[in-house]
Amino acid sequence: MQSITIRRPDDWHVHLRDGDMLKLVAPYTARQFARAIVMPNLIPPVTTVAQAASYRDRIVAAAGDSFTPLMTCYLTDLADPDEIGRGHVEGAWVAAKLYPAGATTNSDSGVTDIRNIHPALERMQAIGMPLLVHGEVTSPDIDVFDREAVFIDRVLDPLVRDFPALKIVFEHITTRQAAQFVAEASSAVGATITPQHLMLNRNALFQGGLRPHAYCLPVVKREEHRLAVRAAAVSGSSKFFLGTDSAPHVRGAKESSCGCAGLFNAPYALEAYAQVFDEEGALDRLEGFASLNGPAFYGLPLNPGTVTLERADVDVPDRIGEGEGSVVPYGAGGRFGWRMA
Ligand code: DOR
Ligand code: ZN
Repeated sequence: MQSITIRRPDDWHVHLRDGDMLKLVAPYTARQFARAIVMPNLIPPVTTVAQAASYRDRIVAAAGDSFTPLMTCYLTDLADPDEIGRGHVEGAWVAAKLYPAGATTNSDSGVTDIRNIHPALERMQAIGMPLLVHGEVTSPDIDVFDREAVFIDRVLDPLVRDFPALKIVFEHITTRQAAQFVAEASSAVGATITPQHLMLNRNALFQGGLRPHAYCLPVVKREEHRLAVRAAAVSGSSKFFLGTDSAPHVRGAKESSCGCAGLFNAPYALEAYAQVFDEEGALDRLEGFASLNGPAFYGLPLNPGTVTLERADVDVPDRIGEGEGSVVPYGAGGRFGWRMA
């Protein structure tokens, strides 16, 4: 197959940031995707309807009005069921994001104990509002490579039993355990999968030296996990859908003695996914993963229009943006074997 045309896709997990960074990165997401679930981990986090509405306006100003941001609310220990429910009913946000406190970038205001948000989860379950989960425990005694698997046992498995009708997206899954958990769960549970977790194993962090641009959270795992996540993505199961977790940080914040977690994969996200599906002989399943499964899970219409990807090399630049504000894209200096026509 030399080219493939699919219905216009969506990104079900992206960080668009704010200010100058928003202006730099939003057009890349809008070039490829009709809609995106926008993560709320700004400083301060997006916890109110008013904050979500004004952030949405700034995104549309940066991305253009052919792009629809799907806003989310950041859950804290003080999450107010009335505010969360009101925002959903009024269309200010489509979902709420659970960051365990301390799990990742700007998660200090996150949830310290899942029981603190049970009232909010009751409300979300009742109104059909999805919970998006950063699935890692944060205890210092748990190895960073085990944090997702331990989260399933300690938090997620009890959660789906306590809230059987709550829609849950297990975000950016990275392990065999997560792929299996989602595959065996009820239809209320889905998962997003990033390009990097399909392409990289943990050797990428240490390839000839420390590689800050391969560092994201959850961290990339052993090869057996990469293969299990790949199998899930190309399986044809409607539970798995595209979520880039594109998470830009300026170059200086990555190439640092304490580098930030996050990869900026928005510029060539579809190219990367197409390459993976091609390698797996599963290009016929790319459309489901990229364009059909997410809307079905969220109960949203499919996008009109199509995008075409063709088999051709595309070289990834070393930098995007200028000077101190520039960002190193995922795959910098390398190439992908597919490009958007
Ligand atoms: O690598 C990551 N970066 N993982 C996250 O969960 C957050 C993100 C960010 O916002 O930088
Ligand atoms: Zn994320």
